[in-house]
Amino acid sequence: QRKHGTTMMAALHSARGLIQCECDCGTVKISCADRKPKTGILMLNMGGPEKLQDVHDFLLRLFMDTDLMKLPVQNKLGPFIAKRRTPKIQEQYSKIGGGSPIKHWTSMQGEGMVKLLDEMSPETAPHKFYIGFRYVQPLTEDAIEEMEKDGVERAVAFTQYPQYSCSTTGSSLNAIYRYYSNRGERPKMSWSVIDRWPTHPLLVECFAEHVRNELQKFPEDKREDIVILFSAHSLPMAVVNRGDPYPQEVGATVQRVMERLGHCNPYRLVWQSKVGPMPWLGPQTDEVIKGLCERGKKNLLLVPIAFTSDHIETLHELDIEYGQVLGEECGVENIRRAESLNGNPLFMKALADLVHSHLKSNKPCSRQLTLRCPLCTNPTCGETKAFFASQTLS
Ligand code: FES
Repeated sequence: QRKHGTTMMAALHSARGLIQCECDCGTVKISCADRKPKTGILMLNMGGPEKLQDVHDFLLRLFMDTDLMKLPVQNKLGPFIAKRRTPKIQEQYSKIGGGSPIKHWTSMQGEGMVKLLDEMSPETAPHKFYIGFRYVQPLTEDAIEEMEKDGVERAVAFTQYPQYSCSTTGSSLNAIYRYYSNRGERPKMSWSVIDRWPTHPLLVECFAEHVRNELQKFPEDKREDIVILFSAHSLPMAVVNRGDPYPQEVGATVQRVMERLGHCNPYRLVWQSKVGPMPWLGPQTDEVIKGLCERGKKNLLLVPIAFTSDHIETLHELDIEYGQVLGEECGVENIRRAESLNGNPLFMKALADLVHSHLKSNKPCSRQLTLRCPLCTNPTCGETKAFFASQTLS
């Protein structure tokens, strides 16, 4: 008979604050939640307001983020726009259940990821995930503070945007750099970054699986006629033209997914969520839906390809604005949306695999992160890259 706590799994559970006995006497659980995590994984994303009363502060942080956008007299115009847009955005959130589900999904994904990591990589265990949102609680800065307090030795900044843009992942990384530079401190933990993963095989497989599942839900006699529209959040052309890598990386994901699907249907990469009068990267998702319907292509599958969890751009913009209202106006026959990756266990495996191979590589970041956009004018980008590149990993 095995003794209490002698198996590898028991040791790992113990490391994570739980001892689960695997001997024949039944299960014994001993809580010791204060065990120190060795590796902290900071899951970076923009976040979304969980409640309607959080919408204003979310927008305020967003419009004040100079890494995301540059506005004239931003400290005056930012608060003005945030206040003006709040009622409209609150109305949109109230139609999708009153708030963003992104924290719920990120927590579930983080749980699944660290559980797998403890099994895959006992030498870097215990692993603990932290959520670092840019515009809502839990904020990136608070998460870093918690990691430092927990005594994490090895910190991984893990972007939850598979494709890199300076306005999303870049903004989160700049926030980490600023956290330390504002305090005039060096981190106690060694930091490294998973800065992009647009073609990770398990990510591609997850997307392909969700597309396949949704294609099956169209009437059988229409399946040949379906056009797949991969829809990603657009960017202002000013960002694209300074050399942001995002459009190319989104294209790379689309290409791999279509290869995985054996190019079963025709497809396009389209761009959603343009705001304001300035030119943005197109074609725009809504105009493409209209254009295809006018040309007799009335069976459409929308696939969110640049966010992995549900958020307002899937649940409101794609499902309600395009899937219901616009679809009806255009006389669409069938319009569906592939499910976001949300709680898919294969996606959690993808996240764990990314962290595991990153830790094994012992590299601070990708080579691609070391290059600033050719026309970048934001000095913080250079300082952030130097900060991560100078980390000593043991
Ligand atoms: Fe891309 Fe600064 S805007 S590196």
